[in-house]
Amino acid sequence: MSPKNNTRLPCSIPSLFLSFALFCILSLSLFFLFYLTQNQQQQSSSSLSFSNKIPPNPNKPFIKVYLADLPRSFNYGLLDKYWSFTADSRLGSDADNDLRSDLSSSSSSSSKLNPKFPPYPENPLIKQYSAEYWILGDLMTPEEWRGNSFAKRVYNVDEADVVFVPFFATLSAELQLGLEKGLFRKKVSGNEDYQRQKEVVDLIRGSDAWKRSGGRDHVFVLTDPVAMWHFKAEIAPAVLLVVDFGGWYRLDSKASDGNSSEMIQHTQVSLLKDVIVPYTHLLPRLHLSENRDRRTLLYFKGAKHRHRGGLVREKLWDLLVNEPDIVMEEGFPNATGREYSIKGMRSSEFCLHPAGDTPTSCRLFDAVLSLCIPVIVSDNIELPFEGMVDYSDFSVFVSVSNALQPNWLVQYLTNISKQQRDTYRHNMAHLQPIFEYDSGHPGGIGPIPPDGAVNHIWKKVYQKLPLIKEAIIREKRKPQGVSVPLRCHCT
Ligand SMILES: *[C@@H]1O[C@H](CO)[C@@H](O)[C@H](O)[C@H]1NC(C)=O
Ligand SMILES: *[C@@H]1O[C@H](CO)[C@@H](O)[C@H](O)[C@H]1NC(C)=O
Ligand SMILES: *[C@@H]1O[C@H](CO)[C@@H](O)[C@H](O)[C@H]1NC(C)=O
Repeated sequence: MSPKNNTRLPCSIPSLFLSFALFCILSLSLFFLFYLTQNQQQQSSSSLSFSNKIPPNPNKPFIKVYLADLPRSFNYGLLDKYWSFTADSRLGSDADNDLRSDLSSSSSSSSKLNPKFPPYPENPLIKQYSAEYWILGDLMTPEEWRGNSFAKRVYNVDEADVVFVPFFATLSAELQLGLEKGLFRKKVSGNEDYQRQKEVVDLIRGSDAWKRSGGRDHVFVLTDPVAMWHFKAEIAPAVLLVVDFGGWYRLDSKASDGNSSEMIQHTQVSLLKDVIVPYTHLLPRLHLSENRDRRTLLYFKGAKHRHRGGLVREKLWDLLVNEPDIVMEEGFPNATGREYSIKGMRSSEFCLHPAGDTPTSCRLFDAVLSLCIPVIVSDNIELPFEGMVDYSDFSVFVSVSNALQPNWLVQYLTNISKQQRDTYRHNMAHLQPIFEYDSGHPGGIGPIPPDGAVNHIWKKVYQKLPLIKEAIIREKRKPQGVSVPLRCHCT
């Protein structure tokens, strides 16, 4: 027999045809059966509907994220609590009060709001720190819509690169500050934020996953500088997502003189292990095509008086307030203030960004979204996604000593050519999407934009994985009896 004969079809043509037809009918009906049940399941399990499923691309890199098991009361439950309050002096902004009445009458079926995933506050004091909400929203989105997400969710902690701790630490702190500010810094039972911090830290530090890694592969979102106020040292080994290092002990600070108020007791944050994340912008995006003539040279809106690093702000204010081409406005956090900001930032070439309480503020991201070229006056500022973004492509950096020379700043900015300004604005327009957290879906549940803030944050964490893994392995070989200090060993 020739080898060819072996490949002969095992059946005659008519029977082949018959089985083929049968196969077709069977698979078609199976397909419809599947399709129908799938559709039914989706519709009954949730009211979610997005235009297209997004299949994951197996060729792209991703980070494997395990969601730590925390009761709902530490994340979405805090939002239930927030929205259950009646208008309160600090917790209620005008926008929130409107939303609140919407929510309480949400029996109306037209409501797009999903009670499982309530909206995040619109109160600008809180909204600017909303990273925690959008990151968790992405992780909570059903798998079939997460094809754009850089974070791949795994359900077995042994498979994970990192463990994400779903505690809304900012919201927890802001709730306490709104309800009873006097207790915020006290370790007492009446301080609900303190109680929550303690419970979260006990739960997380008691887990096998934490014990195994010393917490180095855990990720906390601590955007508000007062978030996790009482337990910063206990979670210091973890990857912390912060807006800057204001209020933290830096790894590279030196305790040289040993007796100053600046003395370093723990090293808690470092660019090596932590990730700087953007504030959530509060002003709407201006597209390059909508850009109009800008008649003012420089715009600044905000409080004149700040403490600490903010002294620069006060001096600058006095220096610039009487310049003809400069607009300086005291801000107020209500609808009027917002309208003024939008107008000011859209009609000025440059937007001043001096240090406030902390080196950064949401104003920087509002400037970018308004296509107003940031003028950053700060000698040590940390910015998000550095290495992926080159800020000198679209911002002007000015040292404090130069900025405080009379007439220097106006001269310097006037010297920047129209062509250079256009280049800055062009570059800025290109980068606007990476500072966007909002996926546009209620509750933050739905596909995220591939080039938005959430994915950039995970890409930054991904870059740290080799370091984290090395630190864990070094820790593991330590003989028993060696005490583990409360600090990060990331160098
Ligand atoms: C630190 O300085 C304060 C006053 O500046 C002084 O009272 C105190 O004794 C100093 N402590 C040490 C350990 O030198
Ligand atoms: C916003 O606050 C300012 C200053 O307190 C006030 O003059 C203005 O009327 C307020 N606007 C609104 C819409 O409440
Ligand atoms: C602005 O340009 C002028 C003329 O080129 C130059 O003399 C001056 O030093 C510049 N000023 C600043 C602050 O850069």
